[in-house]
Amino acid sequence: MTVLADVAALSTRLREGTRAEHTQAESEGFVERLLSGGLDVAAYADLAAQQLAVYTALEQASERMRQDERGAALVFDELTRVPAIERDLAHLHGAGWRDVVRVLPATERYVARLDAVGGDVACYAAHAYTRYLGDLSGGQVIQRMMQRHYGMGAAGLEFYDFPEIPKAKPFKDVYRERLDGLDLDDTEVELAVSEAQEAFRLNRAMFVELGVAHP
Ligand code: HEM
Repeated sequence: MTVLADVAALSTRLREGTRAEHTQAESEGFVERLLSGGLDVAAYADLAAQQLAVYTALEQASERMRQDERGAALVFDELTRVPAIERDLAHLHGAGWRDVVRVLPATERYVARLDAVGGDVACYAAHAYTRYLGDLSGGQVIQRMMQRHYGMGAAGLEFYDFPEIPKAKPFKDVYRERLDGLDLDDTEVELAVSEAQEAFRLNRAMFVELGVAHP
């Protein structure tokens, strides 16, 4: 067995390195109340408004990453979320939605982080992994819970639909292969794992502020 076999792949390092943060994020009060029917569509709409700010910054970073020799392999058009979130907000608030939505301070910090580090391939990989693999996993649960508890139909929940990804599992496998193929050195791998942990913390901070706004 060569020495190389001992080095865990980036996708494995990211998954194992963020397991604790994942548990903390998904058990945040706002998330639990929203998914158990304890809140309302206004709380969901406020979450969607925060996600619009986050995905606008993430997808601006994706545009920059297309120019990166290594990172371009991680940019998938089929993952783009901003147009879907804008349609959701127009459904939830009406045509004047841009005058209605507000961005919370925790979300502004998240956006500032994406703007600051999104051009670095290891940091971009960390943030894209945290959001996109999350949406293709737990995100599907959120969609179902919103329909079950708040009587929502497809409209307003397009954020969770990936019409160009018929099956999530094989796509996630391809995404993990691309992560593993980024050819990051050891220092970059460590940076990616610590940045992914930070990405989860930034998401959790957003949930905490949403929880204060929607008790
Ligand atoms: C809202 C509550 C949440 C639920 C119910 C949930 C549920 C799940 C489930 C069932 C998986 C699949 C695990 C597997 O493949 O074995 C998953 C994976 C994942 N989730 Fe969540 N999740 C939640 C919140 C979050 C949040 C807030 C984030 C990040 C912002 C996130 C990011 C991820 C990522 C990145 C993965 C992929 C892990 C990997 O395969 O490497 N999740 N989630």
